[in-house]
Amino acid sequence: MDTIQIRGGRRLKGEVTIDGAKNAALPILLASLLTPERCTFRNVPRVVDVRTTLRLLADLGARVEDDGNGVVRIQAERLARLEAPYALVKTMRASFLALGPLLARHGRARVSTPGGCAIGSRPVNLHLDGLQKLGARVRLLHGYADAEAEQLRGARISLDFPSVGATEHLMMVATLAEGTTTIENAAREPEVVDLARALAAMGARVTGAGEDIISIEGVSALHGVEFSTIPDRIEAGTFMIAAAMTGGDVYLRGARAGHLQAVILKLREAGVEVREDPEGIRVIANGRLRSVDVKTMPYPGFPTDLQAQMLAAMALADGRSVISETIFENRFMHVLELNRMGADVKIEGNAAIIRGVAVLSGAPVMATDLRASVCLVLAGLAAEGVTEVSRVYHLDRGYVRIEEKLSALGADIRRVKESKG
Ligand code: EPU
Repeated sequence: MDTIQIRGGRRLKGEVTIDGAKNAALPILLASLLTPERCTFRNVPRVVDVRTTLRLLADLGARVEDDGNGVVRIQAERLARLEAPYALVKTMRASFLALGPLLARHGRARVSTPGGCAIGSRPVNLHLDGLQKLGARVRLLHGYADAEAEQLRGARISLDFPSVGATEHLMMVATLAEGTTTIENAAREPEVVDLARALAAMGARVTGAGEDIISIEGVSALHGVEFSTIPDRIEAGTFMIAAAMTGGDVYLRGARAGHLQAVILKLREAGVEVREDPEGIRVIANGRLRSVDVKTMPYPGFPTDLQAQMLAAMALADGRSVISETIFENRFMHVLELNRMGADVKIEGNAAIIRGVAVLSGAPVMATDLRASVCLVLAGLAAEGVTEVSRVYHLDRGYVRIEEKLSALGADIRRVKESKG
């Protein structure tokens, strides 16, 4: 398996262009199942999770063209099957979101239920309860969710937690249900808003996305669309933190400051200069960061997908900080590896207590999920000596050519291909 090798200590400097948002693109690509017409999506990031989604769509019988440059065309005119197998859902939980669109258009669907994952148990009860409220009969059998409905009907759904996936899933299904659906306590993430924009451009009647009540008035059919996804706020936040940790000066072209206010606030508190403009964000850091406390929260709070990266930054900050994780129950797997690099972090319940150290030292490390892996890359950039991050496939699931982008900013980083034999 490939590894990423980093010799730490370089200041990141220059400009990086932010790719399209993975977590916006995945549900938007699946929304193409809601119409027989052709959909063209732009600014789709070339990450492995997108490729997995396109494989799933092709496997279902949709016509998929990927120009390799961020433009993807999908036409789900006639499908070959209404089933997403375990093999695909197991590698990427977001494939579960195929269930609703298949059901809404074809009256039945069968999708493997995702199991637990490296960051928590991640059940799908809110998705299934919501589908039932919309009139679907759902049975869980042999590891699959089997759903059927002659006619889905609008309903009032109140989520116990503002789940991003459940909000997106139910919003998609409700576009083709008869009557009006309201989703209360809906997730407000920018990716939810982007999906709502895509659905509206396909002819859906959706209002309130970005607020905590979303209303969807069902229509009888959706049509094709040309749509461009938003820039990835998590990729942008990752580069912001990388710049902050290396005393860097980096301009993030395309990043939307409006989507990153909680992160910008914390970085400023930590002593980093952040300049916002309509085309991007500039991050200028000088010297050691100050410790700040962080609590992950649903949007507009601090994103859980940047918790690991912020924790790496705090490992080298001046003072003591507490990072609380409130979204996932098991998202501190990076801590043990950071401690192997010389960090001083203790876990107490859902909080990490971090005492900033003067230096981290490079080491061979590995992680079990995407954001934990990138946190180790950031630690390696700021550490003394060489860090070798293995299990690079986690990084490739969510970051486009991360080593090339960091290298263009002056990092000493390279991908080492596995040698055969
Ligand atoms: N939850 C339930 N029941 C449900 C659904 C969720 O209990 O039916 C719980 C989860 O177990 C979790 C919490 O609610 O503890 C939040 O889960 P949510 O549904 O909001 O997350 P998700 O839709 O599964 C998306 C992103 C994640 C990101 C979270 C939170 C995609 C494809 N994934 O997951 O992204 O961390 O929202 O913002 O959009 C990543 O990109 O690295 C990543 C993990």
